[in-house]
Amino acid sequence: MKTIAISNLKGGVGKTTVTVNLGAALAREGKRVLLVDLDPQANLTDHLGVDFRRVTGVEKFLDQQVSFQDVYLTYNDNMHFLPAGRELAKLETALYNMFPTKAKRYFTIKDAFGDADIPYDYVLLDCPPSLGFITINALAFAEEVYVPIQCHYLALRGLGKILALVDIVKKKYNEGLKIGAVIPVMYDRRNKISGFVLDKLHKHFEDRLTDAKIRTNVALAESPRFGKSIFDHAPDSNGAKDFKALAVEIIKRG
Ligand SMILES: Nc1ncnc2c1ncn2[C@@H]1O[C@H](COP(=O)(O)OP(=O)(O)O)[C@@H](O)[C@H]1O
Ligand SMILES: [Mg+2]
Repeated sequence: MKTIAISNLKGGVGKTTVTVNLGAALAREGKRVLLVDLDPQANLTDHLGVDFRRVTGVEKFLDQQVSFQDVYLTYNDNMHFLPAGRELAKLETALYNMFPTKAKRYFTIKDAFGDADIPYDYVLLDCPPSLGFITINALAFAEEVYVPIQCHYLALRGLGKILALVDIVKKKYNEGLKIGAVIPVMYDRRNKISGFVLDKLHKHFEDRLTDAKIRTNVALAESPRFGKSIFDHAPDSNGAKDFKALAVEIIKRG
């Protein structure tokens, strides 16, 4: 089982889109995939066609009030997900208040998964954009971080924050944590800035920058409205092609 946190401390950069569609692409390649919605805004849950106000949310599992079997939902045979519920925002405060058992504040996600029997090849954690306890918990649990980055000039500016956070978590809570992939998203070949940003990213991240690039594609923006991954909404779109290429590359890297 490989646990991957999809994180970037900026909002609107494609984290949820990558989590859903990379997950769906891995599932189509025969991998068993679990997605976890860790953002109180519940965008992933919404994207997969589920009303977060009506489900038992992931927070109840993290709190160990219910078992894994009581909370996971099925998107298809190979892809399951843990939806965010309406109390997920409160978990952030609850973790903050977990003084004096201080260490526990950082390992709530790890502890919940550690005790559960979960048979997946990939667990993808869709992180919130905030630097809070939920994000730190996700990084303290994950083996790797995948950072989606928009091919826009200002996106480079925000990158320092997530790199610094990964460093801190690595030192304090999760020695083995590494940046496994930096994924260019909202790429537009015709736009000079896209090439400039890719060049910079390549210099800094070398082969951790994926060859696969996710192009700007309307179908990717539309598919949440239908509660579907790109493969079920628009299987012939560039979005579907790009995410398939990304999944194949990720599997090859092992
Ligand atoms: N490659 C893309 N092409 C077109 N629209 C995209 C693409 N990636 C993401 N989007 C859209 O951009 C918005 C932000 O993406 P999202 O995945 O929700 O970001 P985050 O989870 O980082 O906040 C959403 O409306 C999404 O549909
Ligand atoms: Mg999101």
